[in-house]
Amino acid sequence: MSLSLSMPAPAVMPAPGDAPPALRHLLGIRGLTRSQAEALLAEARSWKAARAGRLQALSRRPLAGRRIVTVFYEPSTRTMTSFHVAAAALGAEAVDLPVSRSSVQKGERLDDTLETLESLGADAVVLRHPQTGAAHYAARHLSIPVINGGDGTGEHPTQALTDALTILERRGRVAGLKVAILGDIRHSRVARSNALLLELLGAEVWLSGPAAALPPAGAFGGARVTLNRDEALEGADVVMALRVQRERQARGLLPPPGAYRSRWGLDARDLERCSPDVVLLHPGPVNRDVEVDGRLLEDPRCAVLQQVANGVAVRMAVLHTLLGQGGGRSWSTCSSAAGW
Ligand code: CP
Repeated sequence: MSLSLSMPAPAVMPAPGDAPPALRHLLGIRGLTRSQAEALLAEARSWKAARAGRLQALSRRPLAGRRIVTVFYEPSTRTMTSFHVAAAALGAEAVDLPVSRSSVQKGERLDDTLETLESLGADAVVLRHPQTGAAHYAARHLSIPVINGGDGTGEHPTQALTDALTILERRGRVAGLKVAILGDIRHSRVARSNALLLELLGAEVWLSGPAAALPPAGAFGGARVTLNRDEALEGADVVMALRVQRERQARGLLPPPGAYRSRWGLDARDLERCSPDVVLLHPGPVNRDVEVDGRLLEDPRCAVLQQVANGVAVRMAVLHTLLGQGGGRSWSTCSSAAGW
């Protein structure tokens, strides 16, 4: 499908005063300010604490009566489920459009599908789509908030926020940390959103992978790009292995799984190059024994399931930010708890 995509619309609207400008959509990390990102992370921490303590903030069901629709043109376990869990925790209704059984299969265009869902009563749409820029395209056609659940090789902003929250919990800060992101960088929306967000929060980001999987200069902000994996791993505080995305590549661009593992797969010896309290991340789904030695997934330095759990709190923060208090939100209520 061709969407006639042009330059993305800005993700944020200007607002007066010192408070972070109100978010209308969450289309990417590009366009977020540091204060907006910090406020989302602080709110996610608050929601996580509220869920753990079953606090009154949740018993008020702050999004009661609101309806979130997930529209996923690509498979998902973590992102879609966590949006549904997050919506339920806030008292909202979550509805999924089963794209493979929908009128998309009769040729309905993306804008017609989304406008139909808005007419059916959606208050926000979470969109995953194989075409880069699809979320920006959706935002231009809808008057309700659009959340990018992953667009082609573009961005996956809620995954990056989830990863940043996990780093904060494990290391107490993001600023000043060395973060190595390894693998199929070029095709990874997770890598792009993480590189942009972690740099925004003050980390030093290194990207390393096979030559065919490295991005053009500047495509991932100011991140350092190297073919030398050991250079990226040396002293790293955080290592993020990426899924090999064979669905987004020309055949033969990357080595077959066995060769990929022996050259690029992470094992315990690789972590010896890193900081002693390194945190190992992977956005999932993991190809065990390809990107990461399966035994490392049981290692206490591995935070993969913590990432998954944090996805709920982050998505609660995003939904509440976009839909709470009549659509906008008061930034002053959550700007003090960040703690980094
Ligand atoms: N990390 C991630 O986006 O996982 P899913 O594809 O399962 O949503």
